[in-house]
Amino acid sequence: MKNIIITGGAGFIGSHVVRLFVNKYPEYHIINLDKLTYAGNLSNLKDIEDKSNYTFVKADICDFDVVLGLMREYDVDGIIHLAAESHVDRSIKDPFTFARTNVMGTLTLLQAAKVYWESLPGGYEGKRFYHISTDEVYGALELTHPEGRTSEISAHEVYGDEFFLETTKYNPHSPYSASKASSDHFVRAFHDTYGMPTIVTNCSNNYGPYQFPEKLIPLFINNIRHRRPLPVYGKGENVRDWLYVVDHARAIDVIFHKGRIAETYNIGGFNEWKNIDIIKVVINTVDRLLGRSEGEDMNLITYVTDRKGHDMRYAIDSTKLKNELGWEPSLQFEEGIEKTVRWYLDNQEWMDNITSGEYEKYYESMYAGR
Ligand code: NAD
Ligand code: DAU
Repeated sequence: MKNIIITGGAGFIGSHVVRLFVNKYPEYHIINLDKLTYAGNLSNLKDIEDKSNYTFVKADICDFDVVLGLMREYDVDGIIHLAAESHVDRSIKDPFTFARTNVMGTLTLLQAAKVYWESLPGGYEGKRFYHISTDEVYGALELTHPEGRTSEISAHEVYGDEFFLETTKYNPHSPYSASKASSDHFVRAFHDTYGMPTIVTNCSNNYGPYQFPEKLIPLFINNIRHRRPLPVYGKGENVRDWLYVVDHARAIDVIFHKGRIAETYNIGGFNEWKNIDIIKVVINTVDRLLGRSEGEDMNLITYVTDRKGHDMRYAIDSTKLKNELGWEPSLQFEEGIEKTVRWYLDNQEWMDNITSGEYEKYYESMYAGR
């Protein structure tokens, strides 16, 4: 593997994957293909942008001619596909954009890879199409233990009896997860129909530096800093399984190199939290790091109208990945959240650049009157 396109490399997870690959594999040429939507930000990659094994290309994954041209120009061996519309709330307001980018964009990449790789004397030999997907395709799990219970599967309490396995039936509820589910099916169809060497992974909620502040953790850190209300959907009882983003990037590295073709791997943190509990941890951490008294900003918690179709609980069982490839999360949540809050407070300029301009309009349209 020498020439690798990483799509969505200017986004949150993609920037961590690009950084890891560029630094760890100087012999690879990493081509970051990103359209730079509102979520793409080249300042996420300042520390590696001048490296000789890195190229940025501003392009849309839906543009077949451009993608095929890049495959040919760089003689691409592998694609790690992260580009997507990724925010559930936006998908509820504008599902078409999600179908276009997540479904048609993925199909465009697959077709361009097929045309190029099938034109080579060795065909698909040594090639790889790795699609990054989400646990949300599996739907929602029940909260059978609302107070939490201990379990051997997790370092933390779990809130139900069931977990998502690689064999769990797809049951997406939001336009976002429906579009991701559709794209996963196309990837598998290209393996089954044309023999393309594909891999799909489904990961739980990521947190860490460089996440766009439309997502729970960075949005709340920024609001606490500015003492703005914290809009908690419903009763704050929904459960998510949180993974530090660098651990996701590590998993992608291992799976890209050692994962078995045509397999699916679940990636998760073994780390379930109720939203309201995680919010309290974030408030305490921000207060302490800003020199405020711990918990003094609890009064910012504001319960608002629930998200439509809000999935109750996600919980990943990533035992297959652990047993087959030896991957496990490296960071305990307490350490990860401390690092994360510290990063956002230390990088206020990054946050201020994003939250000036269009962001206020987004905030108004998403939260006013909620
Ligand atoms: P993000 O929204 O932060 O970044 C998405 C990136 O894709 C941006 O840089 C954007 O400019 C780019 N992009 C969007 N449309 C494009 C197009 N048409 N052409 C080219 N580039 C385009 O997303 P993220 O949170 O980093 O998620 C990355 C991937 O991981 C997505 O596929 C998402 O479904 C998946 N995922 C995310 C999480 C999570 O917790 N964030 C968890 C599991 C899986
Ligand atoms: O599970 C993986 C998924 O995690 C990824 O596929 C998605 O791309 C990513 O956005 C994330 O989806 P969620 O919807 O779980 O993440 P979000 O940060 O939007 O919300 C986390 C939880 O917090 C969810 O239960 C909704 C709630 N929430 C969110 C926001 C933005 C609030 O209560 N208030 C808010 O303002």
